[in-house]
Amino acid sequence: MRILGIETACDDTGIAVVEDGHRVLANVVASQVGTHSRYGGVVPELAARRHVENVLYVLDLALEEASADLGSLDAVAVNCKHGLLRSVAVGVAAAKSLAYALEVPLIGVHHVEAHLYSALIEQPDLEFPLISLAVAGGHNLLIEMADHGRYEIIGRTLDDAAGEAFDKVARRLGLPFPGGPVLSRLAAEGDPHAIPFPRPLLDSHDLNFSFSGLKTAVSVLIDSYPSLDSVPVADVAASFQEAVVDVLVAKTLRGAQERRARTVTVVGGVAANARLREVFNERGHALGIECLFPKREYCTDNGAMVASLGWYRYRAGDTAGLDLDARARTHFAPIAGE
Ligand code: KG4
Ligand code: ZN
Repeated sequence: MRILGIETACDDTGIAVVEDGHRVLANVVASQVGTHSRYGGVVPELAARRHVENVLYVLDLALEEASADLGSLDAVAVNCKHGLLRSVAVGVAAAKSLAYALEVPLIGVHHVEAHLYSALIEQPDLEFPLISLAVAGGHNLLIEMADHGRYEIIGRTLDDAAGEAFDKVARRLGLPFPGGPVLSRLAAEGDPHAIPFPRPLLDSHDLNFSFSGLKTAVSVLIDSYPSLDSVPVADVAASFQEAVVDVLVAKTLRGAQERRARTVTVVGGVAANARLREVFNERGHALGIECLFPKREYCTDNGAMVASLGWYRYRAGDTAGLDLDARARTHFAPIAGE
């Protein structure tokens, strides 16, 4: 079964063609970095307009890369439940139009749930229960996945998501947008132990996260220098990254131990971070917990994860009508203890 996946949550226009949930025939992403870089962050209104301009072009590229035509598609899946509302709405309008014109089923999925499935694209036979850390700019959740479609949120950020903290600290350090990947490249040249930044909530009794105080600690340190030129930027970047990685890894592995899960998946944009991968592998190995990451092109927003999840949802009988609505924030799983 050949599914077209459409993802327009934030500033990436992603469209993919995936067969039977796992064979990725094409995965095209049009980035809007050029549009937003001069503002230092994503401007929602501009993001939506760029999606409108890009969506048909990206669709053509995806079909070309897959050597497929529109008539060969069996269904269309789209993120309709999480992101910047106007951006999500562009993807939903495109998906509805295609499903209507092609007379194929429409499948609406949740962006964060699609990130969870990005880890299963190339590893479909993972053993449940698994613990998944979904960490990006717009979300930072720790989730127990008991089976396909069965989730419980066991931890979440109380303020900023880790990717958001990366982006804000990068901006304070005068680094160009998008901050996360630029900061992590710079961190490779610095000393991760140069500055003992706080590890927020590391020893708390729950599995929640908080990165806002850490971001403020970096800001206070930067302000203690006479000018940005005198700040040891690589050391600050490396020490900040080490603090974030330390907390993310420790709490995720603790969650896995508490829930007796032997597998951890790490998904979302921050999962592309090389130091995060390294520390997860080291500490996971020592505890006998396997830590798995999707390949980098499936970490940041993309259509393949939407098409892959769409296949599972279709098989579970979960298709949508043409009244499918775009939403900015919806829950897709119960929250532990609530
Ligand atoms: O999943 P994604 O594309 O969009 C959201 O759902 O938010 O993730 C983007 C986020 C941004 O905050 C970006 O700075 C962060 O992921 N990111 C990284 C790296 N690559 C992307 N953060 C740290 N290190 C990286 N290598
Ligand atoms: Zn995302």
